[in-house]
Amino acid sequence: MQIIILKSEKAAADFTARLMADAVKGNPKTVFGLATGRTMEPVYARLIALYKEEKLDFSKCTTFNLDEYIGVAPENPISYRATMQRLLFDHINVRPKATHVPDGMAKSTEKAGRKYEDAIAKAGGIDFQLLGIGLDGHIGFNEPLSSFASLTHEEVLTPATLAQNAGLCDGNVPCRAMTMGVGTILASRRAVMLVTGQKKAALMEQFIEGPITPIISACALHFHRDCVVILDAKAASSLKHKDHY
Ligand code: F6R
Repeated sequence: MQIIILKSEKAAADFTARLMADAVKGNPKTVFGLATGRTMEPVYARLIALYKEEKLDFSKCTTFNLDEYIGVAPENPISYRATMQRLLFDHINVRPKATHVPDGMAKSTEKAGRKYEDAIAKAGGIDFQLLGIGLDGHIGFNEPLSSFASLTHEEVLTPATLAQNAGLCDGNVPCRAMTMGVGTILASRRAVMLVTGQKKAALMEQFIEGPITPIISACALHFHRDCVVILDAKAASSLKHKDHY
């Protein structure tokens, strides 16, 4: 695992966007795994700026979002589909058909999970998986004790996650979600996590410096062959081995 510490939230978000832009330049057909959440907002804003300034071409890219709330229709503004449209897809030249978000309205979440995994496989697998981390250590919506081998499935969100996301949903956070599994994330060719802010500093020490525990789903990333964690100075403030990183 590679740890990169940058001074500010802006520097960390810009660096993350730059890694994504470099991926597209290196391989115009990059398959991205994408995340939502507050941390990603400046990353997507920067990507839109790079699209305009550097004519970054997303026309051959494919995207798969990590998760979606169950029972929330795509047109509902709190859905992750609507959020992605608003924050990124509507502003770049990615083909609408090439953007995928798990189906939160599916009658069978099991079938929907299998369908999502099949679509990822058909696209050739995920080249670049963007990740945030929840205050309870979740990646995607893989809450504590999610199997490190799980594929796309339904999760019940923890009280910590409901509280964390309340501000994004006017207080009415749906309590279940479809999420790529930890195993889906581990199968990506590259995983890039962005973490900012003092609130996540203690969690960063637990997640990065161990011990590995299933209570923090992100710990599974220690088994990923190419995982980069980008932190701002606040999120990195409790790390003990900064000199080494
Ligand atoms: C959402 C997702 C989550 C978020 C995490 C952090 O698609 O994958 O794991 O990345 O909840 O959210 P913020 O950035 O709002 O702290």
